[in-house]
Amino acid sequence: MRLPIPNLNSNTGPLVDGYGRIHNNLRVSVTDRCNLRCTYCMPEEVVFRDRSELLSFEEITHFVRVAAPLGIDKVRLTGGEPLMRRDLAKLVVMLKEIPGIRDIGVTTNGILLADQAQALHDAGLERLNVSLDTLDPGRFRELTRRDGLDKVLAGLAEAKRVGFEPIKINAVSIRGVTERDAVPLAGFARENNYEMRFIEYMPIGADSWERDKVFFAHEILALLEEEFGPISPAPDYDPRSPAMDFVYADGGGRFGLIASISRPFCRSCNRIRLTADGKLRHCLFALDEVDVKPLLRDGHDDIALAASIRANVASKWEGHEINTSRFVKPERTMHAIGG
Ligand code: GTP
Ligand code: 5AD
Ligand code: SF4
Repeated sequence: MRLPIPNLNSNTGPLVDGYGRIHNNLRVSVTDRCNLRCTYCMPEEVVFRDRSELLSFEEITHFVRVAAPLGIDKVRLTGGEPLMRRDLAKLVVMLKEIPGIRDIGVTTNGILLADQAQALHDAGLERLNVSLDTLDPGRFRELTRRDGLDKVLAGLAEAKRVGFEPIKINAVSIRGVTERDAVPLAGFARENNYEMRFIEYMPIGADSWERDKVFFAHEILALLEEEFGPISPAPDYDPRSPAMDFVYADGGGRFGLIASISRPFCRSCNRIRLTADGKLRHCLFALDEVDVKPLLRDGHDDIALAASIRANVASKWEGHEINTSRFVKPERTMHAIGG
């Protein structure tokens, strides 16, 4: 049931939607460019946006300055591939100075991570997630349409060396793929103290998604339990977070399952997204978006910007409808939203 929205015109106070969800988590895509071409994410041929269309670091920082008094305290930088945006560490420093921002993360494909891990750590980046779907070079090439597994592994090693903790590894869970890769990836994560997370394959790429192609969270759980022994829910598991966190009984650490299809977490969604070209999206699967770039570029009407953020959250729907015939795939593919 939709609830009445409080204080739609206030530029302070929490961002509440019509279902009572409070939004504190902002994902900012800093570029749509990527040095990989993952099949589940983007087409092989893409026309990237002209750099002049992208929000500058100053514009992103301005947005976050206005969003923070509305309760945004967590920011995650995404892409495309965020490390392709020059001097990303500078943006981390700029965002960290904003009162109220307590947590900054980056989700990267790891290709450029070996070169940038130290600078990002020095900048004060707190949380690092690295996407890696397989440890097999041939399958890496098949999935990403590029080479680069050794670079990602070097990036992960360097990120650990400079002190990131935890480091989460994201693998998209696709039937026929993950079945072979889940156990090797989980074993690799156990040995190297990374936190493995398997994400159910979602209809947000340029490829043809079908429900049958999703390798479900419960199937992964069964595979891992068979290989590594008993598994139980992590004692500090936060039911609001997209990942269901588990621990291995043998002390092999923890891992997560992001069951976006079989167990959608929309009811506790606390996220909004800002795309690299300045569009605000209340959901990963949103079909309409609000252009906030004019408010950031052509003038500094912070009251209008705050109202625009609040109105976007207020218009948020109950959740994605992937499991129904009503589902409509958004035009933007994942690389231009950021995950
Ligand atoms: P935290 O900031 O630590 O919560 O990170 P995170 O787990 O949100 O970040 P990450 O970028 O690693 O996201 C993991 C996966 O979850 C990605 O594949 C995202 O596409 C997916 N995901 C993130 N947010 C949402 C969401 O709001 N809805 C859905 N369906 N999937 C999401
Ligand atoms: N389904 C699930 N996760 C996806 N990602 C990209 N495309 C998809 C998809 N179709 C993940 C990437 C990365 C994060 C940003 O989104 O693997 O970890
Ligand atoms: Fe690039 Fe990430 Fe999309 Fe793969 S999932 S193509 S690494 S943006």
